[in-house]
Formats: sequence, C-alpha cells, structure tokens
Amino acid sequence: MIVAIDGPAASGKGTLAKRLADHLGYACLDTGLLYRAVARDVAAWGFRLEDPWAAVAVARGLDPARFEDPELRGAAAGDAASIVARIPQVRAALLSYQRAFARQAPGAVLDGRDIGTVVCPDADVKIFVTASPEVRARRRFSELDARGAGVAYETVLADILARDARDADRAISPLAMAADAMLLDTSNLSIEAAFDAAVGLIKRKIGQ
Ligand code: CDP
Ligand code: CDP
Repeated sequence: MIVAIDGPAASGKGTLAKRLADHLGYACLDTGLLYRAVARDVAAWGFRLEDPWAAVAVARGLDPARFEDPELRGAAAGDAASIVARIPQVRAALLSYQRAFARQAPGAVLDGRDIGTVVCPDADVKIFVTASPEVRARRRFSELDARGAGVAYETVLADILARDARDADRAISPLAMAADAMLLDTSNLSIEAAFDAAVGLIKRKIGQ
C-alpha cells in the first residue's frame, strides 16, 4: 500500500505524512530531504548548486544514513534544494531509491512534490495538501521565531512565494496535483483536524 502526499512548502504535508505512517504502521519518507542532502553535499564539495555534473554525482552516491542532519531542516537548505531539484538528471538519479522505499511491506507514506505524479503514479492513495501562502508563511515564521531566528514574517512570505514559483514553473516534475489526487486544504485546520480529514479521505478511497 502506497500513500502519496504532495503539496507546497509548509502546507503541513510532512507532519501529516508522519502521523499517517504512525497510524497505519507504515514506513515514512520525506523526499524533500533527498534534495536538501544533495544541495548540502554539492555545496560542501565547493561546487555551484546549478552545476549538473556535481549534483548528479552527489545524487547517485547519496547516503540515506546522512539524511538525519538538523541543518537540512532549515530555510536555506530548502531554497538550495529547489535549485538542484530543477536538474532532470538529479531527479532521475533519486527515483529508484524512492520507488524501492515505496514498495516495502506493509506499506509506505512518501511526501514531496511529485510523488503522485511521477515517483508513484500508481499509489493507492494520493493526497494533495495545500494552504494559503499567508497561512503557510505564518506557520514557517512561528517555527523560525520559536528558534529565535529573528526573521520578519514578510521575508518568510516572500521566500515561500519564490519557492512556490520555482517549484511550479520548472520543466520537469513541477509541483502539480495528480488528476486522481484528493485535495486537502489545511488553511483552517489544526494538525489534529487535518489528520482526521486525511483518515476520512483514505477510508473513502480504499473503503476501510
Ligand atoms: O512538510 P511541510 O513543509 O509541508 O509542512 P510541515 O513541516 O508539516 O508543517 C509546517 C509547520 O506548520 C509545522 O510547524 C507544523 O506544526 C505546522 N502545521 C500547522 O500548524 N497546522 C497544520 N494543519 C499542519 C502543520
Ligand atoms: O518542507 P518543505 O515543503 O519546505 O520543503 P521540502 O519538502 O523539504 O522540499 C524542499 C525542496 O525540494 C522543494 O522546494 C522542491 O524544490 C524540492 N523537492 C522536489 O522537487 N521534489 C520532491 N519530491 C521533494 C522536494
């Protein structure tokens, strides 16, 4: 059983994916971490993020053991990730790892931008999570503020809009809702309410 969760930055897809995976007893993969890790390693080697050769070499040798790096969760890593994510060969190099992860028993939940459209077009359940840019910026701002990052809300909103545009406009695997995905707008939903709504959608889809 494969559950595909896609959506823009700070829509709540990661939180939802983890809650669903715990609930269902499935493995969970935050695929944004793959792109974040590629960008981190390209920069660490001293190459430009736009350099396709460096990025592809890193993507081919990516070590999943090194995804659990707190640095990867930051806003800068997300921006850097969206630059290497535009390189088609990088996306291709990361496909087999994601697909193998998705196929494990008893099931897997993957979240990202192109899980329902490209990585797992045959996923049993596809949910496209969204929220207004202002709500998403407010959420990201609260996270950063709690960490004492000293960043302005307006800056966070501008970053969210810029990353949305970069992800939606790219030629390969753009952020898009699969034709057979179910839409979940979390703008006015708490984490708990979004989880309950998603469980309802899944039950409706697979009839359990
Ligand atoms: O993975 P993604 O970037 O889509 O978002 P996330 O990391 O799951 O959520 C971003 C922030 O919004 C986190 O601090 C969540 O706790 C919060 N959130 C929320 O306030 N309400 C929701 N319904 C979902 C997430
Ligand atoms: O949590 P948030 O939505 O802010 O970011 P993320 O899911 O960690 O993704 C970071 C960046 O990686 C995104 O802005 C995309 O450019 C890229 N990404 C992608 O292209 N495809 C995926 N399946 C996941 C992430």
